[in-house]
Amino acid sequence: MNNLAGKHIILGISGGIAAYKSVTLLRLLVKAGAEVQVVITPNGKEFITPVTLSSLSGKPVVSEFFTANTGEWHSHVSLGLWADVMIVAPATASTLAKMANGVADNMLITTYLSAKCPVFVAPAMDLDMMAHPSTTRNLATLRADGVRIIEPEVGELASHLVGRGRMEEPENIATVLNDFFGENSPLAGRKVLVTAGPTYERIDPVRFIGNFSTGKMGYAIAAEAARLGADVTLVSGPTALPDPQGVTTVRVESARQMLEAAQKAFADSDVAVMCAAVADYAPAHYVDRKIKREHDKVDSIELVRNPDIAATLGATKRPGQILVGFALETDNGESNAREKLSRKNLDMIVLNSLADKGAGFGTDTNKVTIITRSSEEIFPLKSKQDVAADILNRIIKDL
Ligand code: CTP
Repeated sequence: MNNLAGKHIILGISGGIAAYKSVTLLRLLVKAGAEVQVVITPNGKEFITPVTLSSLSGKPVVSEFFTANTGEWHSHVSLGLWADVMIVAPATASTLAKMANGVADNMLITTYLSAKCPVFVAPAMDLDMMAHPSTTRNLATLRADGVRIIEPEVGELASHLVGRGRMEEPENIATVLNDFFGENSPLAGRKVLVTAGPTYERIDPVRFIGNFSTGKMGYAIAAEAARLGADVTLVSGPTALPDPQGVTTVRVESARQMLEAAQKAFADSDVAVMCAAVADYAPAHYVDRKIKREHDKVDSIELVRNPDIAATLGATKRPGQILVGFALETDNGESNAREKLSRKNLDMIVLNSLADKGAGFGTDTNKVTIITRSSEEIFPLKSKQDVAADILNRIIKDL
């Protein structure tokens, strides 16, 4: 099974002859659908050209702290946060020593030091360097730090000597990473539906009723669910956000269109997270030409109620399906949320309050309380990405 699709992988390449095998590794990972960012040490570039690597990965290779002519600084911190896994292959004696001791004199090491994800190393060096007590010591330090070592093989080395120090074959390294994601994909084989963004209800060709939702929370949930191995359908109202990687995104405009797309996807979903800020009302009559101020003299717009998507899905929910709603409230948050939980037949509701600073529409952060029929958990202010992870962790417990 391919667990690599949509995964964010940093491929660190240091300066050893085995760097030629990194090209095959890169190709295998990209072919499996992973997004790969190559970080190469200055010596690595002596063995393999950045042009080969950027052509295969589709991303500029990161190597220097600064871009020479523009003075642009490359942030190793954001790279470290972006990645689901970092693999250093080949990892030379020098790179292992720097990693073990935090010698941050190149981009590969600074990226390693700021990586929040699991890190693998595939050592490659001559047999005497491999057997040297300092290498043994550095590997032991790295192992204790949580780094996973993909042991080198015994075989003929570049020096023509035979011994331990040959980098593991790219196919096997790709398999190690694939298995790693398999074990860490709690939503593998699960279908997840997410609604996100606002809905626009047309008044005439130039005007609509809408709301301030940007879709950030729902997109974060969709991306996180995909990263956890789910097959994700995101039904999104109009937003300025790009389609998340590895997610099937269905773009809609109105509440009725959103309902139709959501019902279609819900039929075989295991989990549905209703994150959209659906307009509760739509104009009763759409005027198919621009309404003119002087000519039409409109004082009011007649409205009709929109369908409640969450409640409609709640009414047809099968046993075993988990339906999650959101409640954005300004006051009486908890009692309103509990009322929505039962009225819409939800299994879980995520309460966020506009009264909390940093929560709600447009921000990159959120502060939520996750409420089920039998539990309530209050979370601190976090990034929407981390909030998405908290919500999905809670859902995984109930699956
Ligand atoms: N929801 C929905 N369809 C609607 C309205 C809401 O699917 N027409 C979903 C939202 O996606 C959210 C939950 O229901 O998961 C609660 O949304 P909210 O707007 O807070 O609830 P309403 O029922 O509209 O209640 P009110 O406007 O009175 O707060």
